[in-house]
Amino acid sequence: MATDKVELQQKVVEEALNQIFREARTHTSWLPKPVPLSLLKEAYDLARMGPTSANGSPARFVFLTTPESKNRLVPALAPLNVEKTKAAPVTAIIAWDTEFYESLPKLFPHADMRSYFVGNPALIEETGFRNGSLQGAYFIIAARAVGLDCGPMSGFDAAKVNAEFFPDGKWKANFLCNLGYGEKSKLHPRNPRLTFEEACRVL
Ligand SMILES: Cc1cc2nc3c(=O)[nH]c(=O)nc-3n(C[C@H](O)[C@H](O)[C@H](O)COP(=O)(O)O)c2cc1C
Repeated sequence: MATDKVELQQKVVEEALNQIFREARTHTSWLPKPVPLSLLKEAYDLARMGPTSANGSPARFVFLTTPESKNRLVPALAPLNVEKTKAAPVTAIIAWDTEFYESLPKLFPHADMRSYFVGNPALIEETGFRNGSLQGAYFIIAARAVGLDCGPMSGFDAAKVNAEFFPDGKWKANFLCNLGYGEKSKLHPRNPRLTFEEACRVL
């Protein structure tokens, strides 16, 4: 009985790993199936639990869910990203908040971390961009875990996105991510990844 339970748990873990990593692909063609807001909230609620320095959580997410809001993004897109973005039910702008450190008294109350950042734009940029990128990656993994497919994109003009969506200069776009249900038949074969020996050193 106990062995059965362990085997079942292992199977569940393997299925989850397949869904999140081994079988998940970057999608560029999308089924016309809507994404409920509740699923985006579920994905965010998982992603926000990933670690960030001093729990600073600098990432911000703007979900474009209508043709009107998508149209505001289109002029900033690289030509090859236009059609896939129009077809996706949702496009997320993964941004980071240049004033993320103002939330540190709430997010990291046992130490005064805010004062390290005030007046230090280089540290703000490095910390905000690094941890915002990590949170963007957590979000991709979380979205896959709740059953969504992702199509991340860096082919866009960040200055145009910032001017259109963040005119006060407080948030800055990092990358975009189409979300929905991918059309698997349109995928090309998976490209190789670097092996452990190629990409890692053990010292
Ligand atoms: C940050 C980031 C930026 C990317 N930018 C683009 C892009 O602008 N346009 C595009 O079609 N694919 C883009 N991709 C998709 C990658 O080419 C794709 O994830 C990679 O080849 C792996 O594909 P796979 O997940 O199907 O194995 C981007 C991916 C990431 C993570």
